Amino acid sequence: MKSVSANTQSKKLAGRKAADFVEDGMQIGIGTGSTVAFFIEELGRRIRQGWQIRGAATSCYTRLLCHRSGIPIMDSMTLDHLDLAVDGADEIDPSLNAIKGGGAAHTCEKVIASMADEFILIADESKLVSGLCMHHPLPVEVIPAALSLAEKRIRSLGGTPCIRRAVCKDGPVITENGNFILDITFQTAPEDLELLDIQLKKIPGLLETGLFLGMAQKALIGSVDSVHILLPEA
Ligand code: 5RP
Repeated sequence: MKSVSANTQSKKLAGRKAADFVEDGMQIGIGTGSTVAFFIEELGRRIRQGWQIRGAATSCYTRLLCHRSGIPIMDSMTLDHLDLAVDGADEIDPSLNAIKGGGAAHTCEKVIASMADEFILIADESKLVSGLCMHHPLPVEVIPAALSLAEKRIRSLGGTPCIRRAVCKDGPVITENGNFILDITFQTAPEDLELLDIQLKKIPGLLETGLFLGMAQKALIGSVDSVHILLPEA
């Protein structure tokens, strides 16, 4: 579920800055979202200058943007290693744990981020929070047959699941894997995110959560006129 804050300038600065961490010849995981779109634009510029970069896209839309920017895309099915992955986030805490999946692409995004030697988050400063899951719902991807079971089990874990609805189509969002997204809200912040992640993934048919715990080595946080580089707090 996307927040409608249009911090375009901050996103642009963060997205462009991420290209400074790319070296000629690298194979890069490319995330999804409006901040990543600026990263793709900048990569395209470097390719036109003669750089040899290849990308692994985390969604169909990212693949299209890469194609239009001239970035050669590899088939992630054949990959198990990337030099770097760059992606947006919906919430980032001081340890650089993140919630992702506002674009319903978090399953593939997690696969791609996990292949990379370094994973960098890019976001505007509205995404910084002191603790996850209080302002933005936690998305999980669920196969259709498991929908009602997953809703029941999520309630028993203290969460309130809500089927994500499409904006310009009647009915639910269907992911690129053919599944539903449940957005989970919590009355009180979950104390142990690792445990929550494990409990959610034990639900049969729940494919992946939007919790990205301990995955990012850096976050590039854009404001109107600058970008701050954050490292995880111990
Ligand atoms: C998609 C994501 C996005 O990276 C996240 O929603 C941030 O998007 P944006 O840069 O448009 O704010 O997780 O699944």
